[in-house]
Amino acid sequence: MRILALETSCDETAVAILEDGHRLLAHMVSSQIDIHRRYGGIVPELASRRHMEIIYPLTKDALRSAGLNIDQIDAFAVTNGPGLIGALVVGVSFAKALAYANKKPLVAVDHLNAHFMAVFLEPHPPRFPFVALVVSGGHTSLFYVEGPLRYSLLGQTRDDAAGEAFDKVAKLLGLGYPGGRIISRLAEQGNPQAIALPRPLLEKNNLDFSFSGLKTAVVYYVRECQRQKKPLPLHDLCASFEMAVIDVLVHKALQALKHTHVKRLVVAGGVAANKRLRKTLSEISRQEGFELFIPQPAYCTDNAAMVAVAGYQRLLAGKVEGPELDVYARKLIPRYL
Ligand code: KG4
Ligand code: ZN
Repeated sequence: MRILALETSCDETAVAILEDGHRLLAHMVSSQIDIHRRYGGIVPELASRRHMEIIYPLTKDALRSAGLNIDQIDAFAVTNGPGLIGALVVGVSFAKALAYANKKPLVAVDHLNAHFMAVFLEPHPPRFPFVALVVSGGHTSLFYVEGPLRYSLLGQTRDDAAGEAFDKVAKLLGLGYPGGRIISRLAEQGNPQAIALPRPLLEKNNLDFSFSGLKTAVVYYVRECQRQKKPLPLHDLCASFEMAVIDVLVHKALQALKHTHVKRLVVAGGVAANKRLRKTLSEISRQEGFELFIPQPAYCTDNAAMVAVAGYQRLLAGKVEGPELDVYARKLIPRYL
């Protein structure tokens, strides 16, 4: 069973081919960072246009690298939300055309479901149930996951996503886009305890997040340095900011494990590529005695291999789509009780 999967929800065009739910035959990601960098963020119109230009050649590349013809593909999977509507439409239209022309089934995949299912690309995936923390540029969400397609929401951000906070702080500091990787590189040479920044944990016993206050604290710190004509301790500021985000993520993840009585944590999404977060979590998992599962960095940031894994599960469950398949910018996921 070979699935060809497509991902165009944001600023990465990605195509992957997966065999029997776990063997990756092709894994192509074309990033649009160079297009959006000069604007300091993603321009939706430009994202859609670039997806349109690249999706067909990238699909041909994926087939070529797997040594396959299109008629050797058994099903197609595509992300249909959440994300940028115009960008999603490109992938979904292309996937529909492929499925129709080749008379093969089409499955639709939720981007956040795909992010935490990426862990099944690893040699030792978790058993169900587990708690999943998805931390990306658009989302910071905690899920209670009972099965590949059965999950409920434990908490989510009420304002900025964790990755968005990295991106906004990087922009504020004039460091460029996207900010996560740049800040974490600078943070390596800084002291994470140097500058006191808030840990916005919101109310106790609540699994929601809030990062906008932290971003504002960085704004005030920068202004204060300017007022006092002090040079900005860039490395220390990056390290302190990174540590504040990590503290909040770790604290909430631990609370979620306690709340659900689960001892398995999956962390996924672009921010899960962060080295210090990975290291901190692995130390804490040993101390607290829970199992930790984080996909390798290439499967944390947006990719289509994760869409193929989640798509395979939908196919097994018979959740096949027709030509009326639509896209969505957001979706309400039922809350865990
Ligand atoms: O999952 P992803 O590729 O796209 C979305 O679905 O949003 O996540 C992208 C986000 C960006 O905000 C980026 O700054 C952040 O992930 N990111 C990182 C790192 N690498 C990417 N944040 C912190 N540290 C990193 N090493
Ligand atoms: Zn993503």
